Amino acid sequence: MDSILVKGGAELHGEIPIAGAKNACLTLMPATLLADEPLTLTNVPRLSDIATMTQLLQSLGVEVTSLQDGRVVAMSSQSADNPVADYNIVRKMRASNLVLGPLLARHGHAVVSMPGGCAIGARPMDLHIHGLEAMGAKIELKDGYLHAEVPGGLKGAQIELRFASVGATENILMAATLAKGTTVIKNAAREPEIIDLATCLRAMGAQIEGEASGTITIQGVDQLHGATHPVIADRIELGTYMLAPVIAGGEVELIGGRIELVNAFCEKLDQAGVSITETKKGIKVARKNGRIKAVDIKTEVFPGFPTDLQAQMMALLCTADGTSVLEETIFENRFMHAPELMRMGAQISVQGGTATVTGVERLKGAPVMATDLRASVSLILAGLAAEGETVVSRVYHLDRGYEHVVRKFNGIGANIERIKN
Ligand code: UD1
Repeated sequence: MDSILVKGGAELHGEIPIAGAKNACLTLMPATLLADEPLTLTNVPRLSDIATMTQLLQSLGVEVTSLQDGRVVAMSSQSADNPVADYNIVRKMRASNLVLGPLLARHGHAVVSMPGGCAIGARPMDLHIHGLEAMGAKIELKDGYLHAEVPGGLKGAQIELRFASVGATENILMAATLAKGTTVIKNAAREPEIIDLATCLRAMGAQIEGEASGTITIQGVDQLHGATHPVIADRIELGTYMLAPVIAGGEVELIGGRIELVNAFCEKLDQAGVSITETKKGIKVARKNGRIKAVDIKTEVFPGFPTDLQAQMMALLCTADGTSVLEETIFENRFMHAPELMRMGAQISVQGGTATVTGVERLKGAPVMATDLRASVSLILAGLAAEGETVVSRVYHLDRGYEHVVRKFNGIGANIERIKN
C-alpha cells in the first residue's frame, strides 16, 4: 500500500484550483437513471469514488463515457435494465446507496446491497427506507440486500425526516421527481450538494421548489429528459486547502472557491486569526501575524460547521494558542485521527463525541496511519507544520476524495512525495 512522505516546515504560496464536488457528483451520476436521454456532467473530479460510481452504473446497464481526461462524464440510461446493485461494488462506497431511489423510480423494483464506506459510525439507512415507504414502496432486508418494490408506482407523500440526512434527502428527492402527485420533504438537508442536485434535476425537467429552505416540494412528472450540468465546487476540498497556509504559514489563493460554500468554517477561521479575502478568481487565505488562537467547534448540518472539515480543523488547533473543544454531532466515531495526531505530539483527550485539544508550540513528524478520507488529509496538514518527516500510510482513502493531492500541495511549495509500495 502506498504512503505519503511529508517534510514539514515550508511556507506555502501560490494558487490551487478547486475541483468539482465529489459528494455532488456521487448523487448527480445516479440521477441519470431517471431519464433515457443522456445526462452529461462537466467539472467532474477525477477520483476513485467517481470510478466506483461509474462501475456501479455500468453494472446497472448505464453507458458511461469519460471525456476530456475525466473532466466530463456522459451517461445514457437508455438500455439500463438491471435493477440489482451488487455487494461487490456497493461495499466499496456508501454513496452507492444513492441508486436506490432512482432504480425504484425507473423499474418499480430494486435490489441494492447495504453499503460500506468510511468506518466513521453505524450510518444506517432507516431514513431513506421510511421516505420511500411513505411513497408506497415495500422494502425488506434479505441476505444483506434491500429488496424494494412499488407495484403501483411511486406516489407523492408528506415526509418529515427525523434528521436532515443528506443521502436520504437525495434518494427521496430523486424518486419523487417521477412519482404521481406532490411530495413534500420536511426537515430536508440543505447542503450545497442538494441544491446542485435540484438544479440538475430541474434542468432535466423536474418540478422542484424550496431546496434551500429545508422544505422541498416536488411535483412529479411523467418523464425527465437529458441535460448538461456543471458540478459545483468542492467545499470540503476548498476548506482543506484553505487550512494549508494557515497551518504552515504563507498565502494561498483557492481558484474557484466561494465563501458562501464555507461560511461557518470561515467564521471560525476568522475567530482563530486568519485573513480571508474574496478575489476575482476565488478566495485568498493567510495567517495573520502571531499564533493561531484556540476556537471551539461543533459540527452541524449545513449551514453549520461541516463534519467533513472537523479532522482538518483539529490538525490546525493542535498548534493553536489555548484549549479548543471540538464537538462531533453528526457521526459517533469520527475522532480516529486524534490518536494519530497524538503520535505527532498533539495534546488531545477524547470523551464520547467531544475532543479537547490543548495547543502545543510545534508538532513533530512521525509515522501515522490514515483511517478515513478526511482523517488522511488532516495528517498531511499536520505534517506540513511539523518538525521533521511524517509518513502517512494507507493513503488509498485519499484517492477517494482528493484529486492530484500531491501535485496540488507541491504546487504551493509543500514538500510531499508519494511512496509506491
Ligand atoms: C453525506 C456525505 C458525507 C458527509 C455527510 C454529513 C456524500 C456522498 N457523503 O453522507 O461526506 O459526512 O453527508 O454531512 O454526500 N443517518 C441515519 N439514518 C439514515 C441516514 C443517516 O441515522 O437513514 C445518520 C448517519 O448514521 C449519520 C448522520 O445521519 O450519523 C448523517 O448521515 P447523512 O447526512 O445521511 O450522511 P451521508 O449522506 O451518508
